Amino acid sequence: MDEHTPVLLEEVLAALAVSPAGLYVDATFGRGGHSARILQALGAQGQLVALDRDPEAIAAGRLRFGQQPCLRLVHADFTQLAAAVRSQTARAHADGILFDLGVSSPQLDDPARGFSFNQDGPLDMRMDPTHGRPVSAWLAQAGRDEIRRVIGTLGEERFAGRIANAIVRARAQAPLTRTAELAALVATAVPTREAGRHPATRTFQALRMHVNDELGQIEQGLAQALSLLAPGGRLAVISFHSLEDRLVKQFIRRHAEADAGLAGVPLRASEMRAVQPLALRRVGRKQRPGAAEIAANPRARSALLRVAERLA
Ligand SMILES: C[S@@+](CC[C@H](N)C(=O)[O-])C[C@H]1O[C@@H](n2cnc3c(N)ncnc32)[C@H](O)[C@@H]1O
Repeated sequence: MDEHTPVLLEEVLAALAVSPAGLYVDATFGRGGHSARILQALGAQGQLVALDRDPEAIAAGRLRFGQQPCLRLVHADFTQLAAAVRSQTARAHADGILFDLGVSSPQLDDPARGFSFNQDGPLDMRMDPTHGRPVSAWLAQAGRDEIRRVIGTLGEERFAGRIANAIVRARAQAPLTRTAELAALVATAVPTREAGRHPATRTFQALRMHVNDELGQIEQGLAQALSLLAPGGRLAVISFHSLEDRLVKQFIRRHAEADAGLAGVPLRASEMRAVQPLALRRVGRKQRPGAAEIAANPRARSALLRVAERLA
């Protein structure tokens, strides 16, 4: 239950092009699958600072890598990325930063964390149970329209209105506190079925993203990563659904392409860079796992890797 299979492992290693004496940041340590391979590529002068907002991930990492002198493990979230890295090293800039977004298998598979609609547990879903409030507390006080909006936008759920009504009706009888209760309620509210998908999949995704402010965290994490990267340093981001990927794509585009407003202005490339210096260049095309990886690890099926390099 405490295992996580790292996705796109070879692709991430190739993207980071680890130099043995470099400083690397794994912003989503999880169970350390990617970190382990970065550590293998580092020499004695190299450093890896690994973060996770989940205290269980950090505790598992200390057990697994406790003796590893190149590794610093920090309990922090993306809003603390730059400060966390600076607290662990005297070096000003990182040579590579990895984000492997979303939740880990140990988080999903432990019913006590409340992420799963397949196993009953407390309705929590916080990646960091020491902060914020569980889904049950949010559902107890949020207005009907707010619930509909969150499920509609973050879950891209077309029956969000019906689900919000069902939640408001149910909580008037008794507070919603269990994942199985919510999964059953959503299943009755959703009139159609998607092949191979539990009808509560979209609702659970939306509530998880909301209580963990996942999109706000990504925006802040990417901005801080840019400020941390050395010229030539690589940014590698794995996302798992379209809302996450859209933020990553837009972020890279914003920093890798000249402003469309300058498109008609007759400037040479060098003049354009002086007016609007670009901070990133795209490296390769977006990458997805191959059939063999998906067969071995079905959770990899929606993974998508984007890579960019910091410009001087
Ligand atoms: C997909 S898993 C990473 C798995 C890891 N690459 C491995 O191979 O084991 C994502 C991890 O990132 C953490 N995480 C997600 N969002 C975060 C955030 N905003 N700040 C810090 N950690 C975050 C989660 O707690 C989870 O452990």
